[in-house]
Amino acid sequence: MPSDGPQTIHLADYTPPNWLIESVELDFALDPKATRVTSRIRFTRNPAARDGDLHLDGEQLTLLSAAIDGTPLSENEYQKTDTALTVPAQRLRDDAFTWEAEVQIAPAENTALEGLYMSGGMFCTQCEAEGFRKITYYPDRPDVMAPFTVRIDSPMPVLLSNGNPVERHGHIAEWHDPWPKPSYLFALVAGDLVAYSDHFVTRAGRNVALNIWVRRGDEDKSHYAMGALKRAMTWDEQVYGREYDLDVFNIVAVDDFNMGAMENKGLNVFNSKYVLASPETATDRDFEFIESIIAHEYFHNWTGNRITCRDWFQLCLKEGLTVFRDQQFSEDMRGHAVQRIDNVLMLRAQQFREDAGPLAHPVRPESYQEINNFYSATVYKKGAEVIGMLKRLVGDAGYAKALDLYFCRHDGEAATIEDWLTVFEDATDRDLGQFKRWYTQAGTPRLTVSDSFSGDTYRIEFTQTTKPTPGQPDKAPQVIPVAIGLLDETGAEVEPTRVLELTEERQAFHFHGLTARPVPSILRGFSAPVILDHSPSFADRALLLAHDTDPFNMWEAGRSLSRETLIGMLADDTPPATAYLQALSTVAGNDTLDPAFRALVLSLPSEDDIAQGAVDTGLVPDPVQIHATRKALSKAIAEAATDTLITLYDAMETPGTYSSDATSAGKRALRNTALRLLMPLGGQPRAQAQYDGATNMTDQLAAFACLLETGDDSVAGRFYQQWHDDRLVMDKWFMLQVAHAAPERAVSVARSLTEHPYFDWKNPNRFRSVIGGLTMANPAGFHDPSGAGYAFLTDWILRLDKANPQTAARMSSAFETWTRYDADRQGMIRDQLERIAGTEGLSRDLSEMAGRMLKAGQSD
Ligand code: TRP
Ligand code: ZN
Repeated sequence: MPSDGPQTIHLADYTPPNWLIESVELDFALDPKATRVTSRIRFTRNPAARDGDLHLDGEQLTLLSAAIDGTPLSENEYQKTDTALTVPAQRLRDDAFTWEAEVQIAPAENTALEGLYMSGGMFCTQCEAEGFRKITYYPDRPDVMAPFTVRIDSPMPVLLSNGNPVERHGHIAEWHDPWPKPSYLFALVAGDLVAYSDHFVTRAGRNVALNIWVRRGDEDKSHYAMGALKRAMTWDEQVYGREYDLDVFNIVAVDDFNMGAMENKGLNVFNSKYVLASPETATDRDFEFIESIIAHEYFHNWTGNRITCRDWFQLCLKEGLTVFRDQQFSEDMRGHAVQRIDNVLMLRAQQFREDAGPLAHPVRPESYQEINNFYSATVYKKGAEVIGMLKRLVGDAGYAKALDLYFCRHDGEAATIEDWLTVFEDATDRDLGQFKRWYTQAGTPRLTVSDSFSGDTYRIEFTQTTKPTPGQPDKAPQVIPVAIGLLDETGAEVEPTRVLELTEERQAFHFHGLTARPVPSILRGFSAPVILDHSPSFADRALLLAHDTDPFNMWEAGRSLSRETLIGMLADDTPPATAYLQALSTVAGNDTLDPAFRALVLSLPSEDDIAQGAVDTGLVPDPVQIHATRKALSKAIAEAATDTLITLYDAMETPGTYSSDATSAGKRALRNTALRLLMPLGGQPRAQAQYDGATNMTDQLAAFACLLETGDDSVAGRFYQQWHDDRLVMDKWFMLQVAHAAPERAVSVARSLTEHPYFDWKNPNRFRSVIGGLTMANPAGFHDPSGAGYAFLTDWILRLDKANPQTAARMSSAFETWTRYDADRQGMIRDQLERIAGTEGLSRDLSEMAGRMLKAGQSD
């Protein structure tokens, strides 16, 4: 990094704000090119202040006027830079004063989708993490909390902000949010929207108006989200004792959005992809995501909004906890086993991947250049796993007690991870000093197992090691809760689940009173986010796959056999063992098991998982070979289980009206898994018939994917004819064509789709469909030996960086695994990373990402 490059912010440098805020009034005169924002802010001196200077953040603002206590400020009374405005202490003698300012901004020119911007003719905002400073001058930091009053002047029919509506006169609407909040939770929406409305009565009897605001015509696609919202509100009352605290809860669907959704107080803003759904246009997976994201944002009202973060290093305080809560909710709504497996699949695919590469960072990072780059799988998903471990260690009652204390002690505050852990220590009398390493130490611990049996005693020994990560060469042992049970050779459980607490680098545990060598079922429920290094015999794993009482480990047994089979095929062409194929087929045909679970057992590890598995066993992964090998194994499974799969395909039909419930979705998942597997065995007519007869998007899309892989040239055209008017379905059309293109054609398919008139690269969903379709959904195509995929990605992220740095930086993480590949590929990727890093005028977001990824190549 050049010394004049972006500034690095350190956790250790935190200082409290000099001034706190008693109240904020904002007036917006909306105009696409020239919006005027007037602020009146009542500041009071912070007793904990270091000095009396007033530091306000502000970016891309035209300052029209500023005054203190009614006296205009002259230009020599403050200092202004591109990013800040400071009023020195000597101008601020009193312990309180009122700041007034008028600024002008241009929402129509805001392509970064941060601050106040326009999407499809409506005004909307995105302030987390540091977008409010693009709206007006303000101490834009989460430890400054204030009640807001907002007036919006606009001819738009619907004018929304946080809190409760106060009044509406002609063009002017006033909103008041009584709950003190940080600026990142501010929101404003103005547009020609219609509401799908309902209401909810809280446990205390408060009647809350619920509205989902959408474009005219989309009202019917909001029913599912509304039901999910009401289920989430009920669940949070029942499970956490948390009630909603305003008269109205508004959700708005927006087409142009950088992420999934945003928890602004009383006014959640959603990527329309996570709100709008009908059976014809949304898949079962979409419904599942909608339910969990609606819940996630709603749950933030307590974990994030009422109790917020002191600074952005504490991001996991709200995100880890809120993800944990939404996962608990989804497990309750949709089934514990399958949800847990799904979450672990995503954790491994995203977070283990991150932890294994140059972007690895602790759940609570210690420094950053651009905080947007740390809305990561580690902060969110590993952050949630850490809370799951805490709960396992202190027990359900201890967890409930700690959470009650947390809400009681810190309501209305901006808290830290230290506060969070202290609450657990106080509530449960435990020392969490060592446990805290889960927050401060990066990397995925690897747990090596060795065991023995003698006399009546089973001895199991664990060794934990964690590889160095950027900035952390040496790792200290962590507290690892290992849930374990023992089975006998008939598959009967002889020792029910117990949680072993591993605290040392190497530690042994004993089980007495056994009559024979048991088969251990280790890390039940995935009790800790670690890599389990244990290769039991085929017979032991087959036994677990057939009999384990823990459904997670039952699935895991099959998965580890699949992984090992694939690695064997890659390393030295070892053909898949018949007994393995037979075992999968037996599970698939076992009607006593949940169809969704069976679908998961039949699904092979993703190509990226296989690549990571290859690295773990000392191989250099070749993505093209991995693609072919996975296909070959898939075919071998189908050949071994043909009759079962055909039977399942017919038996799992869900005739009648579509229902998005988990049971029906599970049947469709199993049926569509069978469809895919059967494709190389003459499955084309079946896929064709399913495509033609499909009445829901789940079945249509599954058949579409199968047909695309056969090289069917006409199906994309037919899909287009049917759906070209629906943006969200068109995102799928773009994505699937890239994802299911043969590897050698993938880059050219992606490139020609970027030339399609409907390719709107400034829309993050569309950009992700095509560019992400290649990098994430077609790894063999992305890693084409020519390097064309790397150049293609780089061209596009450099172009996007000028318009939308946040999404450009996010997409660049497709390169985070680069050091796992062969020298040729590494060389080509390094060239692209250097090309990025050397680009003039790069955003802080992308420059930090490229810098971090390039560093990995130096230490090797
Ligand atoms: N806090 C949001 C959530 O997890 C996510 C978020 C952070 C976000 N920054 C954003 C969403 C920027 C959209 C744009 O729920
Ligand atoms: Zn969140």
